[in-house]
Amino acid sequence: MKNPRKIAPIALLATIALALAGCSGSGTSGSGSTKDATLTGRGPITYVQGKDNSNVVKPLVEAWNKAHPKEMVTFKEQTTDANQQHDDDVQNFQAKNANYDVISVDVVWTAEFAAQGWLQPLKGDTAIDTSGMLPATVTAATYNGTLYAAPVSSDGGILYYRKDLVPTPPKTWDEMMGMCKIAKAKGIACYAGQFANYEGLTVNAAEAINSAGGTIIDKAGKPTLNTPEAAAGLQNLVTAYKDGNIPKEAITYKEEDGRQAFEDGKLLFLRNWPYVYNLAKTDGTSTVKTTFGMAALPGKAGPGASSLGGHSAGISVYSKHKATAADFLTFLTSEQQQKNFATIGSLAPVLSSLYTDAALVKQLPYLPVLKTSIENAVPRPVTPFYPAVSKAIADNSYAAIKGEKPVKTALSDMQKSIETAGAK
Ligand code: GLC
Repeated sequence: MKNPRKIAPIALLATIALALAGCSGSGTSGSGSTKDATLTGRGPITYVQGKDNSNVVKPLVEAWNKAHPKEMVTFKEQTTDANQQHDDDVQNFQAKNANYDVISVDVVWTAEFAAQGWLQPLKGDTAIDTSGMLPATVTAATYNGTLYAAPVSSDGGILYYRKDLVPTPPKTWDEMMGMCKIAKAKGIACYAGQFANYEGLTVNAAEAINSAGGTIIDKAGKPTLNTPEAAAGLQNLVTAYKDGNIPKEAITYKEEDGRQAFEDGKLLFLRNWPYVYNLAKTDGTSTVKTTFGMAALPGKAGPGASSLGGHSAGISVYSKHKATAADFLTFLTSEQQQKNFATIGSLAPVLSSLYTDAALVKQLPYLPVLKTSIENAVPRPVTPFYPAVSKAIADNSYAAIKGEKPVKTALSDMQKSIETAGAK
């Protein structure tokens, strides 16, 4: 800023606000007046994301590397567990690791990572085109009006069911519970989701509560758990676990355990994400290749409400090669790669048009169901303190399902902990 006197007062204020915003982040660069050299930096980068269960990343990275021999991408694969992925990201941000260039950001981490100043805002040199994307995916990658990550894949909960045993899938939770006798007669378990104590349980508990007509938070972000609807939702899981409709072993299930049990033919119903479709159809060991169907999650009087899942890709503020990183983000969101996500891994694309692409729908007939699931999905609370909020939901739901806390106590404890987390 050479001559501040020449700048109109409002513009000056805006400039000061911008400079302050730049200072408040831990090491955020690029928003001040000096040009940040890392923004135009090119060279090798690392892409960090959770385990590539669907085998989509390897071919994608190979294709990129072939075309960019001087800007090669190395894939750093984390574990399958969302909490471990989060903690690994946080440790590397705190260490200012310049080698974690592009990070896969779960939709629930955007606010925290952005508020900490760890993600490069995607504007100016690093802007991407979001015009063709499902609005929910763009909102989930945005914090305080700024886009901080490029939506890469969406996720909506699906009810997988054995159509050889249940020709018409249940529309309501009670209907589904009524069908558990079919499982019993076959000597298999009835229903599983993700009930281990981690992010997956937060997703499932939120779905149980929302599908029963309750809410976790209101529009102003205040927790709303002390309601009969929320109690009815959590009670559904508690009762099903107690009476065996949810098998005892499901208390340890994360996504992959449930998928395995379903593919082994040991489960009548499974709540999981769309990635299961491709694996259940093609895994050598899958016993349900031709006998499973997909439907909306069951609700109270009709279809239930999924939690919105999915991932975006953000650029670490510590990356030295942000120009390469930005190109890689554009590549991840290109129509070709988005199509590959759907056809190779049955992941949910973020490009709206693919859900009505005739050839794609022919190959993946569940796409319209999935689009509806995503469009009606309920976001988990958006807050920089999300880890504490999620822990409150998961810990208390876990205790209730195991029968260690009455549902009402679990919900009021959840309410209090979320209030404390938000007030930090
Ligand atoms: C899936 C979802 C993600 C969610 C996670 C929980 O990866 O896309 O949003 O947090 O599952 O296990």
